[in-house]
Amino acid sequence: MGVGGCLALPWRCLVVLCLRLLFLVPAGVPVRSGDATFPKAMDNVTVRQGESATLSSILYAGNDKWCLDPRVVLLANTKTQYSIQIQDVDVYDEGPYTCSVQTDNHPKTSRVHLIVQVSPKIIEISPDISINEGGNVSLTCLATGRPDPTITWRHISPKAVGFISEDEYLEITGITREQSGEYECSASNDVSAPVVQRVKVTVNYPPYISDAKSTGVPVGQKGILLCEASAVPSADFQWYKDDKRLAEGQKGLKVENKPFFSRLTFFNVSEQDYGNYTCVASNQLGNTNASMILYGE
Ligand SMILES: *[C@@H]1O[C@H](CO)[C@@H](O)[C@H](O)[C@H]1NC(C)=O
Ligand SMILES: *[C@@H]1O[C@H](CO)[C@@H](O)[C@H](O)[C@H]1NC(C)=O
Ligand SMILES: *[C@@H]1O[C@H](CO)[C@@H](O)[C@H](O)[C@H]1NC(C)=O
Ligand SMILES: *[C@@H]1O[C@H](CO)[C@@H](O)[C@H](O)[C@H]1NC(C)=O
Ligand SMILES: *[C@@H]1O[C@H](CO)[C@@H](O)[C@H](O)[C@H]1NC(C)=O
Repeated sequence: MGVGGCLALPWRCLVVLCLRLLFLVPAGVPVRSGDATFPKAMDNVTVRQGESATLSSILYAGNDKWCLDPRVVLLANTKTQYSIQIQDVDVYDEGPYTCSVQTDNHPKTSRVHLIVQVSPKIIEISPDISINEGGNVSLTCLATGRPDPTITWRHISPKAVGFISEDEYLEITGITREQSGEYECSASNDVSAPVVQRVKVTVNYPPYISDAKSTGVPVGQKGILLCEASAVPSADFQWYKDDKRLAEGQKGLKVENKPFFSRLTFFNVSEQDYGNYTCVASNQLGNTNASMILYGE
């Protein structure tokens, strides 16, 4: 294997490097293991991506560096025992490493298996979504890591419902308004803290008037009619007296529209103000109305 192979596959390079040493250790130069017995089972060395791996059970002889990968350095532990250190370890460094040395004509082999761990990372997640009530929602969260991360979905707001999917896919059929809010995808393995990302699910629904009460107010007093409605997107309000739409800026009258209610204020109620008022709440999904009476006391 040539130098080119070295650059592409550093771990293979190390194998070659070490195996070649078997033949290159000059006769008469004693190369011994600090511990004469090699472990029978292959040792695992686990290291996180970006850190350095020291393969200390590998024996090595001579100071010549055969590998062109600048991340590989030789560490002298004692006169006869060496380690190989791979700096800034990456996933392609994972694999078996074999080192052979010749001692008294008995070639000895040491083998370790380098395991590279990688923190979880979310690589793809569904964007925020707006959907009409009753529709189907499919959210995806893809993550990488070594070992493979565990992916979960949770519904976290407005009410924390908890885990709802132990999977990278979250399917909701016939979504309800209670299922709107923030969903959190979490990817975790043992390497580092879980990584999380959130998706906002907006569930649209037509207005629903929750409160509209008739009110009794004596002449000369201040009177208020309130119309409360929930809707997503929030409702637009209009007021009618009998069949006539109330004009904006009518004298002695104030209309306040907020996302969840509309308030009609009569600063000084007169006989002409008494009657049947209808509040109409609408958004692009539909409209509804409720009637209430302003009466004298
Ligand atoms: C090395 O790791 C593999 C899988 O990761 C495992 O099956 C094996 O038992 C480990 N060996 C040792 C000696 O720990
Ligand atoms: C939602 O999914 C259900 C079941 O898979 C299906 O019957 C229905 O047609 C879907 N609705 C829409 C709007 O796609
Ligand atoms: C309410 O209106 C009546 C009749 O127009 C008037 O006499 C009275 O002073 C007004 N009251 C107030 C508080 O403005
Ligand atoms: C008020 O008006 C609405 C709509 O015109 C009507 O349905 C309702 O019966 C009326 N209420 C009363 C008490 O007249
Ligand atoms: C109120 O709702 C009823 C029933 O949906 C509808 O017939 C009526 O036209 C509505 N009134 C107004 C003022 O929108």
